[in-house]
Amino acid sequence: MVKFIKTKNYDDMSRKTANLISAQIISKPDCVLGLATGSSPIGAYKVLVERYEQGDLDFSKVVTVNLDEYKGLPRTNDQSYYYFMNDNLFGKVNIKAENTHIPDGMEPDSDKACADYNAILRSVGGVDLQLLGIGHNGHIGFNEPCDEFEKDTHCVELAESTIQANARFFASMADVPTKAYTMGIRNIMEAKKIVMVISGAGKAEIVEKAFFGPITPAVPASVLQLHPDVTVVADEAALARVLDRI
Ligand code: F6R
Repeated sequence: MVKFIKTKNYDDMSRKTANLISAQIISKPDCVLGLATGSSPIGAYKVLVERYEQGDLDFSKVVTVNLDEYKGLPRTNDQSYYYFMNDNLFGKVNIKAENTHIPDGMEPDSDKACADYNAILRSVGGVDLQLLGIGHNGHIGFNEPCDEFEKDTHCVELAESTIQANARFFASMADVPTKAYTMGIRNIMEAKKIVMVISGAGKAEIVEKAFFGPITPAVPASVLQLHPDVTVVADEAALARVLDRI
């Protein structure tokens, strides 16, 4: 079942997303959080850091698993998701480094990297709350539109458009990652709760397709319609095309 929380703007969305994550941490201090990178959750991470600084949140027992990581990017590269998570959350709260997990982008053997991450996902004993963003094409994690849902952690070839869009962050084309490791659709769907953050008019069309269109691997996020507990926290602009249906 998909519930929608309509918010005024990005800041309102971030606060309400942080409320849901805070409630999870407070009700189960040793919870497992599935985390995402990208621009959508940055505001929510900022609010979580503020609440930690105010003494209202304790991450000492929290365990995290991230959705994805570029293949071949060292952790020190500011475009790696490892760097992003440390910069936006892990480095600013009292989470234990050994309790945070991200696919190992520097493992050159894709089969090993994916098998290792699947083993980690099994060992943490299930995700309590999975945070997601959505791509303009409906991707979740790096599960891009395709013919069949990929179940477990796998290595993806990035779309040419993604490579081109990322090029501006790198010194040369040769440095731009062309592959990534990502949790699969089953890994994501196994989470007890899913919270998706969506902001901006640019996402309005995909929101309609993903939640009110057919369930198809051509729109990977559409599979969330089959999950029992999904909360979409989105601003009015992102919900513009579905306001009469939520
Ligand atoms: C990030 C991820 C991606 C993003 C999506 C939306 O870990 O897996 O699926 O959630 O690309 O990105 P933003 O939030 O930048 O629009």
